[in-house]
Amino acid sequence: MSGKHKYTKRDNFSSKFGVIAAAVGSAVGLGNIWRFPYVAGENGGGAFLLIYLGFIIVLGIPLMLTELMIGRKAQLSIFGAFRRLAPGTPWSLVGLMGVVAAFMILSFYSVVAGWTLEYAYIALRNGFADKSPLEIREMYNGIVEAKWKPVILMFFFLITTAFIVRSGVKNGIERYTKMLMPLLLVIIILLNIRALSLDGATAGLVFLFNPDFTVINKDVVLEALGQAFFSLSLGMGVMATYGSYIKKGESLGQTAISVSIADSLIAILAGMAIFPAVFAFGIDPGDGPGLVFVTLPGIFNQMAGGYFFALIFFLLLVIAALTSAISLLEVTVAYFVEELRLTRKRATTVATVAMIALGFLCAFYDGVFDFFDSISANVLLPLGGLLLVVFVGWFLGREVVRQELEADGKVAKYFYVFVFVIKFIAPFAITIVFLHNLGLL
Ligand code: PFF
Repeated sequence: MSGKHKYTKRDNFSSKFGVIAAAVGSAVGLGNIWRFPYVAGENGGGAFLLIYLGFIIVLGIPLMLTELMIGRKAQLSIFGAFRRLAPGTPWSLVGLMGVVAAFMILSFYSVVAGWTLEYAYIALRNGFADKSPLEIREMYNGIVEAKWKPVILMFFFLITTAFIVRSGVKNGIERYTKMLMPLLLVIIILLNIRALSLDGATAGLVFLFNPDFTVINKDVVLEALGQAFFSLSLGMGVMATYGSYIKKGESLGQTAISVSIADSLIAILAGMAIFPAVFAFGIDPGDGPGLVFVTLPGIFNQMAGGYFFALIFFLLLVIAALTSAISLLEVTVAYFVEELRLTRKRATTVATVAMIALGFLCAFYDGVFDFFDSISANVLLPLGGLLLVVFVGWFLGREVVRQELEADGKVAKYFYVFVFVIKFIAPFAITIVFLHNLGLL
């Protein structure tokens, strides 16, 4: 590789907080605030939460560490990383699969993110105030089923995402996530204070924290694992790409643990904001995907200070979606920069135009939306996760793993545990989920 190659000027995160803000920004998204509460609500609350947390600890943290390690070792994003670490082998196809998954996820993710923009706007002009629950449901259906509106919203959302990504890792991603993540935390705490001060809030907390194991079956367990992976942005190279911007000497283990704790905490805080309100107003927590978009606006309507809390809630959703979308776009931008030798700005334009085209298909055709959603969550992410751990556990070799962990500054005490998990436990567990998702188990 020539000394003048662009990689030599590789943009990096400038601080530890920058790394954490960007990675937590990726992990905390619609998955935490929109998906986690309704999936937990449908699957019995507390028991689901416990299993979910178990998976985060046993599989999520090791897989995140695996991805960060691959990226930092190779100093390239996911596709290039496989090419550099396993030259002349088909492993780079796994990287390519990550890029394809990023495209698919971002295209439907930005459609849902577009709805959040619309909701923030409705909240701003107090548009829920005089609406009955039925009218709110019709409003939701109207937005989702309208033809052009979701396309336009998705377009705005992607342009904003692109604006941040094109400014670079330090001056774009790090700079904005460092501002947005603290804001997100403040908002979610304010929402918690309000929700917990409602009469009858305790029933919501009991639902979230008091596990009822009678509701647990195979499907619930597998759902919890899928949710854990999606929520931590694992299985498709986002964390590998971010890992490639982390300097040697930063502890990857600490990063993986901090990010996983922050992500779980935000999911729990989202549950603690939503379930007390749901129970206080006598609504069924198992309301499905409409929980946030249909049920909550109705609740805000009846709540003192509802205007303000609706506004900050939907702002929270927009921020969460934006910082995750940034990481998805970065995967493809880094790929274009490295493989097509484009400048970052040009790569961002190309990736965004392609993304808008796919997003258009998702917004216009439900079938495409559902297909991208299910193929990425059920096939590409678990398959990607499986191949990533197999790669590091069985092909990359212990010595490389040891060096990367030692680069943290001291010999990592968890080295043996980590190797055991990624060699045996993670491949086994992920294979089971994968087979289940394909309907083979
Ligand atoms: N982790 C994000 C969320 O919880 O919403 C979603 C996500 C982002 C999934 C990036 C996968 C990914 F690569």
